[in-house]
Amino acid sequence: MTAQKRPRYAAKLERVLVDEAALAARVSQLGEQISADYQERELLLICILRGGVIFLTDLMRHISIPHAIDFMAVESYGSGARQSTGTVKITMDLRIDIKDRNVLLVEDIVDSGRTLSHVLDLLSTRSPESLSVCCLLDKKARREVGVPIDYTGFEIPDEYVFGYGLDLDELWRNLPFVGVAKD
Ligand code: IMP
Ligand code: MG
Repeated sequence: MTAQKRPRYAAKLERVLVDEAALAARVSQLGEQISADYQERELLLICILRGGVIFLTDLMRHISIPHAIDFMAVESYGSGARQSTGTVKITMDLRIDIKDRNVLLVEDIVDSGRTLSHVLDLLSTRSPESLSVCCLLDKKARREVGVPIDYTGFEIPDEYVFGYGLDLDELWRNLPFVGVAKD
């Protein structure tokens, strides 16, 4: 009999922080709340790539009102680095004109706040009707730039996390849970 193989991410994982069931429950609640809040408005979800992609696709299936989606890619970390470089670059811009639209930004995680602050500054120059933020994870203790967050999935401690869209050295975005990485 062969020994059960450990999954390959096991060597990188300190512990599971938010499991699949907790994510599903919270994402569903957020979707319901957003649907209620935007009942009378036409919603445009903007996903920040790449980390927000799993969150967006789950969240939108819990939003019961009509809504459009668009994507924007932003780089704030050097490849593989676990620390913010402090520089934020838009590597892919939106296709949709957001003028007079009700925009809800969908982000994976807010850490220093630099990425979000940069994106909000840029998008507000394009005259949306409203501009709000929904982030799955908030690492509040690391905030350097104040940013308004309208919907938060979970507040988490100051630890590097991966899974559910977030990468560890560009891998493991597909894991169904959010885990803390080993040092
Ligand atoms: P900020 O600009 O420092 O707020 O960093 C935000 C971006 O850094 C997020 O959109 C993530 O892509 C990335 N990031 C920050 N913390 C983590 C983490 O613990 N795991 C994976 N990515 C992270
Ligand atoms: Mg990222």
